[in-house]
Amino acid sequence: MHNFLPFAYFQNQFVEFQNANISIATHALHYGTGAFGGLRGIPDPSNPNQILLFRLDRHCQRLSNSARFLQFDISAAKIQSVIVDFIQKNSPKTSFYIRPFVYTSDLGIAPRLHKIEKDFFVYGLELGDYLSPDGVSCRISSWYRQEDRSFPLRGKISGAYITSSLAKTEAVEAGFDEAILMNSQGKVCEASGMNIFVVRNSQIITPGFDQDILEGITRDSVIKIARDLGFEVIERPVDKTELLIADEVFLSGTAAKVTPVKQIENYQLPQDKPITNKLRDKLTAITENRDPAYQDWVFKVEI
Ligand SMILES: Cc1ncc(COP(=O)(O)O)c(C=O)c1O
Repeated sequence: MHNFLPFAYFQNQFVEFQNANISIATHALHYGTGAFGGLRGIPDPSNPNQILLFRLDRHCQRLSNSARFLQFDISAAKIQSVIVDFIQKNSPKTSFYIRPFVYTSDLGIAPRLHKIEKDFFVYGLELGDYLSPDGVSCRISSWYRQEDRSFPLRGKISGAYITSSLAKTEAVEAGFDEAILMNSQGKVCEASGMNIFVVRNSQIITPGFDQDILEGITRDSVIKIARDLGFEVIERPVDKTELLIADEVFLSGTAAKVTPVKQIENYQLPQDKPITNKLRDKLTAITENRDPAYQDWVFKVEI
């Protein structure tokens, strides 16, 4: 069981988390017609009265865009202001994760998006490492990522996570930590809730936006950091066999941060991961507001 932050934003007001409850007839529960964000907050290591949020503007914009697929008009500015109030109301003391969510809140029975009530809530929970920072083993999933022509993959739509759930459970029940999903073209796509990077001959390679990936904010940050450090980053289709003989593979995501991959199926990857480590250390320094060059990626909330 998680430690939830004491207050949630629900039906336009702050209520105690345990009182933020919905009906079993809620439309989104049946049809997966929700969309969510997920961002981390940490107390500023050099100022306990300040909370740091990584790339808050990008997270709010992505959720606002996701909401458009649900025909829900909510601005990034509105989402941001609720999140700031949420943090001030909760005054978290440890690392936490915020889950803002938009969904069809009506009790109607027909799957649809028009003429149906929608709502926006926010809750949070304490969160440390999501995956082992020492590295994970991955199974190539028998489940394939959805295609953009049948699913709005640029949104973080709740219904999409049946595929992530199937893949994750399949991997874990087979003794692995994480799943790597291919896309419908049989190319490498992403993990259950992370984007993927491959390092070969000092080049950093990651599937591009045309590969049915989620437009990850950590992915975007890693690409920028790597280029600023002088690495060549190539966005292109990636074959499964490239993963198996890579010098390094790592996963990127808000929950997973930068997590090294140490094994894929029965292939052990090299233990030395100099580029992964360099990028991870840089990202950590940025999120902890220790890197002045990336100050504008860190949003500060006084508590
Ligand atoms: C399916 C999927 N891919 C990738 C990511 C990584 O995205 P981000 O870096 O924005 O957290 C996530 C996590 O949000 C995800 O759920």
